[in-house]
Amino acid sequence: MAENKTYYISTPIYYPSDKLHIGHSYTTVAADCMARYKRLKGFDVMFLTGTDEHGIKIEKRAAAKGVTPQKYVDDIVAGIKDLWSIMDISYDKFIRTTDDYHVKAVQKIFKELYDKGEIYKGFYEGYYCTPCESFWTKTQLVDGCKCPDCGAETQIAKEDCYFFRLSKYSRVLIDYFNDHPEFISPAARKNEMIVNFLEKGLEDLCVSRSSFKWGIPVTFDEGHVVYVWVDALSNYITALGYGSDDTSLYDKFWPCDLHLVGKEIVRFHTIIWPAILMALGLPLPKRVYGHGWLLLNGDKMSKSKGNVVDPVVLVNKYSSDAIRYFLLREVPFGSDGSFTPDALLTRINADLANDLGNLVSRTVSMQLKYFGGIAPSEADRKSEAIDNEIIGMFKELKANVEEQMEALQFPLALTEIWKCVSRLNKYIDETAPWALAKNEDDKPRLAQVLYVLCEGIRIIGVLLEPFMPRTPERIFEQLGIAGNAAITSWDSCSEWGLYPAGTVCKKGDALFPRLDIQKELEDLEAIKIANAEAAKAAAPSPAQAPVKDAGAEGLATIDDFAKIKLVIAEVVSAEAVEGSNKLLKLQLNVGSATKQVVSGIAKAYKPEDLVGKKVVFINNLVPAKLKGVVSEGMVLAASNGCSLSLLTSFEDMPAGTEIY
Ligand code: ME8
Ligand code: MG
Repeated sequence: MAENKTYYISTPIYYPSDKLHIGHSYTTVAADCMARYKRLKGFDVMFLTGTDEHGIKIEKRAAAKGVTPQKYVDDIVAGIKDLWSIMDISYDKFIRTTDDYHVKAVQKIFKELYDKGEIYKGFYEGYYCTPCESFWTKTQLVDGCKCPDCGAETQIAKEDCYFFRLSKYSRVLIDYFNDHPEFISPAARKNEMIVNFLEKGLEDLCVSRSSFKWGIPVTFDEGHVVYVWVDALSNYITALGYGSDDTSLYDKFWPCDLHLVGKEIVRFHTIIWPAILMALGLPLPKRVYGHGWLLLNGDKMSKSKGNVVDPVVLVNKYSSDAIRYFLLREVPFGSDGSFTPDALLTRINADLANDLGNLVSRTVSMQLKYFGGIAPSEADRKSEAIDNEIIGMFKELKANVEEQMEALQFPLALTEIWKCVSRLNKYIDETAPWALAKNEDDKPRLAQVLYVLCEGIRIIGVLLEPFMPRTPERIFEQLGIAGNAAITSWDSCSEWGLYPAGTVCKKGDALFPRLDIQKELEDLEAIKIANAEAAKAAAPSPAQAPVKDAGAEGLATIDDFAKIKLVIAEVVSAEAVEGSNKLLKLQLNVGSATKQVVSGIAKAYKPEDLVGKKVVFINNLVPAKLKGVVSEGMVLAASNGCSLSLLTSFEDMPAGTEIY
C-alpha cells in the first residue's frame, strides 16, 4: 500500500488539579487501544494526550499548598506521566497548556479571532463569591444565594471580559450535525446537543477573565487571561504546530480523526470547538465520541468528590494488562458502568487466569509432554471435521474484531476473541488429548489437535496486542515464536496455518495467577482506608475545597453517613472572631474533650446567649483554619440564607452523646 494513511486521535487534556483516577485511565486506555490498533493496521498515527493546567482552581490549590501554580502542576504532571508509563500508554505527544509554544499559539488564535470580529469586549454579570473570586450562575448557588464552593454569600457583580460570538453558530451547527451524521457518537448524544443546546439558541461565550492570573495573558489587554475553553480546546491544533513556524504536523494530521472524550464534555467538543474552528476558517474534526462514566457506588467517580480509585494501586497489584483488559471489557463502550473491585477480580480470574491462562498453559504442557515441545510436521498430523469448524471461526476472527474496533466497541471486539478462547478450551475437552496420548495410533490426531491449539493461540495473541501490550509477547515466548515478525504481525492473523512445524515451545509462568478474591478485597479495602487517611491529612481546608460537579450530586450510602461522627456538645464559651462580623469562636464540651470551632453564626446569635446551649457537632472533621483560627469541627444549623437556627435535641442529652 503506497497510500500514506494517517490517523489522529486525542484524549481530553486532563486537569492536573489532583492525581488522576481510574476514570481518566479509562479514556486514555481506550484511546491507546485504538492508536495501537491503527498502527498495527499500518496507519501513521498521532496519539495526543496532555494536561489542561490553567485556571483558578489550580491557582488556589497551589496557594493552599504554599507553592507556585507552575510547581504545583509540574509535580502532578510528573505523576501523570508515570501513570501513563506503567499503563503502557503509547502517546506520540503529551501537550501541557503551560508549554511555551501552546501559550504563543493561543495568544495568536485569540488575537486573530478578535481581529476578525469573532471576539468582542463586554462585561459579565453573575453571582460573585469574594473569598473564591468566582462567578456562579443562579442555578449553581446553594440556599438561594450562597457559593456552592465555600458557602459564603454571593453578590451580583460585573467583570469586564471578552466574548466569543457563539450565538451566531446555533443554526450552522444544527445543519452541520445533520449533514455529518458520523460527527457525534454515540448517535444519541447528537440529539442531546441539538435539543438541549442548539435549538434553544446559544449565548455568546465568555472567553477571558480578569479576576485571576493563572492563565495565558491576552496580548492586547493587560489584566485579562484567556479563559478555559479557548486555551484548552486549541491544544488539539497547537500540539501539531498550528500557530508556530512549523506546521508540517498540522498539515499532515488535521482534521483529527477522533476526539475521544467523556460524555460531560461532548458539548464543548461538538459545539464550542467546532464554532471556534469555523471562526478561524479551519476544518472540523471528523468525529467526537462521548463515552460513558465509570461509576463508583452509582456515582460518577471524580476528583472533586474524592470517591476515586487509584489506578497505580491496581496496576501494581494486578498488572497493567489486567487493568486494561478490565477497563476495555467490562462496560459497553458509550454507556455508564460500575467499577467494583469485585467485578475486577472476578474478570481477572474468570477471563484471564482461567480462560486464557489455562488455555495457554494446558496447550504448552501437552505439547511438551507428548512431543517434547516440538510442533510435528503436517505429514504427521491427522485432521478431522471438527477442526474445520474451529479453523472457520479463526479465519473470520480478524475481520470480526476489526469491525468492532472501527465502531469503538472494544468490549465486543474482546468478546469476539474470547469466543475463540472458549471454543479452544471446549475443543480440548472434546478431543481429550490425554486419551489420544494413550494410544500410539492416535499420535497423528494428537499432533493435529495440538497444532490447532497452538495456531489458534498464535492468532489470539496477535489480536490481543492493541488491548494488552505485554501479554502477546509472553504468549509468543511460550509458543516459541517470539520475535518472528512474519507470523506475529497483524496481517498474519487472517491466515490459518502459519505456526511452523518444528517450532519449540517453552513452559512459562502463568500469564495471570489466580487471585484469592476474598483476600484481595480485604487488601484493597485496607489500601483504600490508608489512602483516605493520608489524603485527609493533606487536604486543603474546607474553604479551598474544590467545586462539586454541577448536577452530579449523588446519593450517600449508610457507610458514607457512618463516617460522620455526630455528638451532642455543650457550649462552654463563645466569642467573636477578630476581623469578622460573621464568625464566632466556640469552646465545646464534647464529653471526652473540649473542642474549638469557628462557626459562621454571628449574625444569628450573640456569644453570651450561646453559653450552656446543647448543639449538634461533627466530631471527626479534618481541622481547618478560618480567619487564621483553628476550627476542629462543625456545629450544625438550619438556614435558608436569611435566618439561621442551630440544631439541638428535644431531650436534655449530656455532652458527648452520640447521634445516629
Ligand atoms: O474535563 N468515568 O478535565 P478532567 C469515565 N480539562 N471517564 C472519566 C471519569 C469517569 N468517572 N472521570 C474522568 C477536563 N473521566 C478538561 C478537558 S479537553 C480540551 C479539556 C475522563 O480532568 C473523561 O474522559 O475533568 C472526562 O471527559 C475527562 O476524564 C475529564 O477530565
Ligand atoms: Mg471534570
